[in-house]
Amino acid sequence: DKGNFHHFMQKEIHEQPEVISHTLANYLDFTTGTAKPIELPFDFAKIDRLSISACGTAYLAGLIGKYWFERLARLPVDIDVASEFRYREMPISPDSAALFISQSGETADTLASLRYCRKAGVPITAIVNVRESTIARESDAIFPTLAGPEIGVASTKAFTCQLAVLASLAVRAARARGHVDAKQEQALVRQLSETPRIASQVLKLAEQIEKVSRQLAKVKNVLYLGRDTNYPLAMEGALKLKEISYIHAEGYAAGELKHGPIALIDEKMPVIVIAPHDRIFEKTVSNMQEVAARGGKIILITDQKGAAQTSLQTMETIVLPDVPEIITPIVYALPIQMLAYYTAVFMGTDVDQPRNLAKSVTVE
Ligand code: M6R
Repeated sequence: DKGNFHHFMQKEIHEQPEVISHTLANYLDFTTGTAKPIELPFDFAKIDRLSISACGTAYLAGLIGKYWFERLARLPVDIDVASEFRYREMPISPDSAALFISQSGETADTLASLRYCRKAGVPITAIVNVRESTIARESDAIFPTLAGPEIGVASTKAFTCQLAVLASLAVRAARARGHVDAKQEQALVRQLSETPRIASQVLKLAEQIEKVSRQLAKVKNVLYLGRDTNYPLAMEGALKLKEISYIHAEGYAAGELKHGPIALIDEKMPVIVIAPHDRIFEKTVSNMQEVAARGGKIILITDQKGAAQTSLQTMETIVLPDVPEIITPIVYALPIQMLAYYTAVFMGTDVDQPRNLAKSVTVE
């Protein structure tokens, strides 16, 4: 049932404050400010690597997870798309653990990667939304996302809930490995607990985002740029846009612009820049100047400080609330999803059932 919404995707975007809140509460204890103890088939303090594989949007969630595990817990992460992982015959450290991410729990390549790791004898864990799935059954431990059923083919709430789980696990790992103390853990848990409230505020930007999307629906190509955890989010934005609006889009690390994609920039090319005012904001500003100098149209997604500090002419600036660094990719995922959603609506495509795609990809 879509309730008052036009599409399941729109409903699922709006459910995010609630389902992120449920998911976080499963992993974090807000009263003590700690990551809850979880049953693990390995010890975070003893493993030397974590290997993540997944497909599509779940892979991009894993890529953001890599930044968190490495930065907070100093735990090296290998990450692959599952269709590469299973065939590339890389050495698997006996002291590593494997983590698979899948909304459906049935994706063929992700399952095959899981079975490959099983043979290699490493502990297997999975972040899944469907608990009665094959991937869940074949894992030694699962970390459920509490997103509820996701009907729209384009993943939205499952993605942000995967991020909520990954961030919580990274905090847990950081504590176990002695890289954050009790006080720092409390601060991180408090920051994460703010996500649902801030996400609700961001949903109120729907009208502005709809207005920008009307312009996007007129173009043939869109470039998304971001740095740090917003780099995978740039790729997620591009994936979402192509899936449901059929507009060609690419997501790049902002620093890669001058290594190729800048050749594409002209006055017909909108560039969506995901750039909260963080420690590398100035670097992204210079990338935007390069775009502006070539007539590219910038749609900047930033915060108050970021908006105040650029004197650049943008086609539109979408200003989000100030957020602590750890929750940035979760919060910034929402305008990215809404941009794709409204653009597809203007294009008149079948938003919930885009052509050529299936919700669960059980073929290889
Ligand atoms: O069910 P899974 O999470 O394993 O699915 C993985 C991908 O097929 C999926 O994320 C796909 O990329 C979505 N359609 C993205 O919106």
